[in-house]
Amino acid sequence: MSKKPSYPGNTIMVRPNGPLICGSEINVIIQDADGNIISKEKELALCRCGHSSNKPFCDGSHKKLTIDAEQEFSDERMEELNAPSDELIITLKPDAMLLIKSPVTIFSRSGLSVTTRNKGALCRCGESSNKPFCDRSHSQCGFKG
Ligand code: FES
Repeated sequence: MSKKPSYPGNTIMVRPNGPLICGSEINVIIQDADGNIISKEKELALCRCGHSSNKPFCDGSHKKLTIDAEQEFSDERMEELNAPSDELIITLKPDAMLLIKSPVTIFSRSGLSVTTRNKGALCRCGESSNKPFCDRSHSQCGFKG
């Protein structure tokens, strides 16, 4: 197996048919829509299959499912990152997406897909046809979380 790619600063690694592994040299902060901090860690795994019993975190439920969540993605635009050492702040939109509010490098586990963003929306319902990005499918599939 190839070596896991690594990048400086804030990162989100897309695991094949698995979670988003979020990392920061300072902190990954998960907050609710009101700005209340839910979690503050250097690394954590966020569910992107929509089936965790411990949302927004991965609880391994994806391993029991046949989910279609490839790691590669086609939107590979590279934005110049504002401040690469900032904390990685992710906001949970109720019954909807993960909102990124910090500079971050998003990459597939294979290293074949890479993009940099200063903000963005990631799928956590498991139904987007543009994974790992949100395409608003959560509003059709009745996602709760
Ligand atoms: S990705 Fe692991 S439980 Fe959803």
